[in-house]
Amino acid sequence: MNRDAILVGGALLVWVAFVTFWFSNIVELTSLGVVTGFLLTTVTVVLHYSEGTGWEPTEDISQDVLEKRAETLPETDFPEPMNRSIGGGGAPAAVGAGGAEAELADSEEEEETEGFDPAAIEDPETYEIEFPKKGETIEVAEDENLLKAGEDEGWDLPYACREGQCLSCSGHIADGDAHEYIKHSNNDTLNDDEMDKGYCLTCTAYPTQSFTLETDESP
Ligand code: FES
Repeated sequence: MNRDAILVGGALLVWVAFVTFWFSNIVELTSLGVVTGFLLTTVTVVLHYSEGTGWEPTEDISQDVLEKRAETLPETDFPEPMNRSIGGGGAPAAVGAGGAEAELADSEEEEETEGFDPAAIEDPETYEIEFPKKGETIEVAEDENLLKAGEDEGWDLPYACREGQCLSCSGHIADGDAHEYIKHSNNDTLNDDEMDKGYCLTCTAYPTQSFTLETDESP
């Protein structure tokens, strides 16, 4: 039922009743008040129980908006929050320097030098790694990472993620370019410049020849 129509009808009824009783003077003013009150009450009750025009919620388009927004954003590969390599470690430098082609070239190069599986090495060689801060030189197999080798000696070496995703375990190869001395099974943190200067992530660094390692050193 239309609420406005009922309201107008009720008001009209009250007005007609009021005029009729006033001018005809058939009943006393008290009776007029009672009748008017009755009519108003009736209108109020009718209005209260009328269904009105109803309300339909508008369609929720928030999910569509989010999906459309997501389609306009490039894919990213962010590491963990609070990570030094937020923004991709060495990757941003590649994007800034040469756009998509440089990034692709770098990623191909990275695949060649990073991400190998040490467990797949057959007949691993052993190399002599000097830890000057510990005053010792130990033998480390090429399928054993530097952090683990040090811990096996009972040394308390720094680390956090143990997955090449932070900088907590980083060390410095005193002999030069880290690319020449180790391979990372995973490196989401150090860029090429930093590795060129001898830095490595001991938790994922596997020796490819003998060298001197300064632990707890970061770029
Ligand atoms: S402990 Fe995080 S990179 Fe080695």
